[in-house]
Amino acid sequence: MSDLFPRWYNQLPLKIALGLLVSAVVVSAGVWYYLTPKYSRVGYQPIQPVPYSHATHVGQLGLDCRYCHTGVESSWYANIPSPSVCMNCHSQVLPNDPHLAPIRDSVKTGAPVPWVQIHRTSDFVYFNHAVHVNRGVSCVSCHGQINKMVEVRHEQSLTMAFCLDCHRNPAPNIRPLDQVYNMTWTNDPARQLEAGVRCVRDWKIRSSHNCSACHR
Ligand code: HEC
Ligand code: HEC
Ligand code: HEC
Ligand code: HEC
Ligand code: HEC
Repeated sequence: MSDLFPRWYNQLPLKIALGLLVSAVVVSAGVWYYLTPKYSRVGYQPIQPVPYSHATHVGQLGLDCRYCHTGVESSWYANIPSPSVCMNCHSQVLPNDPHLAPIRDSVKTGAPVPWVQIHRTSDFVYFNHAVHVNRGVSCVSCHGQINKMVEVRHEQSLTMAFCLDCHRNPAPNIRPLDQVYNMTWTNDPARQLEAGVRCVRDWKIRSSHNCSACHR
């Protein structure tokens, strides 16, 4: 008889209960770990191979984001420009500047410039640039005042809570489409909100809270 019902069998329910308890603790520790600001990438500002400055090129020269990030309004991805885009100007401007050597080399050899990626969502998150910028969400809302950055800095948390805060109440962050690429549109929250409320109503904006919108 004891062969048919070995002793460990009696302990099975206990083992299952313990296993469940342990995994519950692991899961909540994981969520706590990821959701607390310690893990957030805010402030991440790596040294880049070329000291390219958005403050100079956007803030002073007034270049539009789409001059370089050409994919941003047509695809999920905001591309980094190829070095030939830089050479449109830098074949004449600062043509021998040592800081621009990696750009000139890359044009010559075809090897990519080793830019360090700053913003990155996890693989289990679906994100898309075009659905945002074509619905009046400005780059400023998610990347901060790029026009003032000498080096790009990870400005917003881009955590799930950050996404959901806006998806639940988008109006304060929606603006007329011709202002999406303007980093200095208005400092007046009342005017921004009034315009946002109108856009949300007229364009019937419904940003989803469904898990499957962002986790597919
Ligand atoms: C003249 C070209 C040019 C223009 C114009 C430009 N950028 Fe960039 N941008 C770059 C390059 C090159 C990089 C990669 C190097 C770096 O991070 O500084 C970059 C990086 C970025 C990044 C960080 C990418 C990452 O790795 O996560 C953001 C965000 C960004 N740009 C936003 C903007 C916004 C917003 C505008 C318009 C207000 C803009 N850029 C205009 C060339 C440009
Ligand atoms: C529309 C023309 C234009 C384009 C396109 C352009 N630049 Fe510039 N860049 C300039 C001008 C003008 C200056 C300022 C020159 C000066 O200070 O004498 C400059 C300055 C610089 C400097 C010197 C440091 C600074 O910010 O003053 C670097 C480095 C630089 N650019 C890198 C790049 C890179 C990398 C790209 C491509 C992603 C690029 N530029 C695209 C016009 C351009
Ligand atoms: C709703 C938030 C949001 C808005 C609005 C937004 N971005 Fe992003 N951006 C992100 C996120 C999230 C990532 C990281 C995506 C990933 O993991 O590839 C990112 C990444 C980038 C990158 C790095 C390349 C890439 O696509 O991963 C660039 C460049 C960039 N954004 C430029 C822009 C520009 C320019 C605008 C405005 C025209 C803009 N972004 C508007 C959230 C946003
Ligand atoms: C500042 C406001 C804002 C932020 C921040 C934001 N979103 Fe959105 N999101 C919107 C709006 C507005 C729409 C368009 C809804 C529509 O077309 O009616 C949208 C649409 C989407 C869609 C298309 C599906 C849908 O809901 O219609 C996805 C996917 C999405 N967002 C993911 C993200 C993720 C992931 C993040 C965080 C990294 C994020 N969003 C941050 C405002 C925002
Ligand atoms: C608007 C976009 C959006 C929606 C809607 C959304 N999430 Fe997320 N979620 C994210 C982003 C972005 C992250 C990654 C955060 C990070 O990397 O810091 C994330 C992370 C997670 C994680 C992983 C946390 C961890 O420990 O890494 C879980 C689990 C999760 N989401 C579950 C859900 C569930 C369940 C729902 C529906 C109730 C949901 N999400 C709805 C954007 C969204």
